[in-house]
Amino acid sequence: MAVDPLIELRDVNKYFGELHVLQDIDLTVGKGEVVVVIGPSGSGKSTLCRAINRLEPIQSGTILLDGRALPTEGRELARLRADVGMVFQSFNLFAHKTVLQNVTLGQIKVRKADKAKAEEKARALLDRVGVADQADKYPAQLSGGQQQRVAIARALAMEPKALLFDEPTSALDPEMINEVLEVMRQLARDGMTMVVVTHEMGFARSAANRVVFMADGRIVEDRSPEEFFTDPRSDRAKDFLSKILKH
Ligand SMILES: Nc1ncnc2c1ncn2[C@@H]1O[C@H](COP(=O)(O)OP(=O)(O)OP(=O)(O)O)[C@@H](O)[C@H]1O
Ligand SMILES: [Mg+2]
Repeated sequence: MAVDPLIELRDVNKYFGELHVLQDIDLTVGKGEVVVVIGPSGSGKSTLCRAINRLEPIQSGTILLDGRALPTEGRELARLRADVGMVFQSFNLFAHKTVLQNVTLGQIKVRKADKAKAEEKARALLDRVGVADQADKYPAQLSGGQQQRVAIARALAMEPKALLFDEPTSALDPEMINEVLEVMRQLARDGMTMVVVTHEMGFARSAANRVVFMADGRIVEDRSPEEFFTDPRSDRAKDFLSKILKH
């Protein structure tokens, strides 16, 4: 299947001092594709996400978004950050702002939307992720699952071309994991381009077009979920799967 590429990494290398955390990374994410990234702790998954969003500089290689090289600074960079939304493990909502304000802020500051329009859109998005009735509360008054759905609504409010998720359900109590994954599944069905770092193998099987397995800063396998889970090629992946599927 030939898809239009949206995110392209070519020969990307990154070091933290001596540590070579991203090694010759080649990765293409097509428009509308869902790529799940898995791998052991410390393999470079978060760094990969952060590099795509320019939260981490890289030492060599190129990263393209929609065919354009990523700007490294200035206004162009702010626009890029708005084009690639990011959802973190720890929600990262503004604690002293209401849910509604969390979802309108970026629209007003970065997208220059007027307040009424921004609020209308925010309410529609909060409804879409199932927390419309929480709009006037503060983040601390919400459950973890609700906060994470607000974080997704906030990312969507910027009308991003792609969304990056870094272990979005890892900090959640088990009963809240599914409500967040269900929102993500719906986004996938709606055609959102997504890169998702997760240990939720059920999500990977049901929603991913591809699974990328990382180990020691390298992409070791990049295959369909079906192929990856039934017939992992590398010893690293076999070892990882046997551990993760056991518990
Ligand atoms: N700011 C930093 N400074 C120095 N080393 C770092 C920094 N951030 C990450 N590292 C190191 O880079 C490597 C990759 O880290 P990264 O967070 O990308 O891994 P990960 O695959 O996301 O792991 P986890 O599953 O635990 O979240 C690790 O060895 C980590 O210790
Ligand atoms: Mg990580």
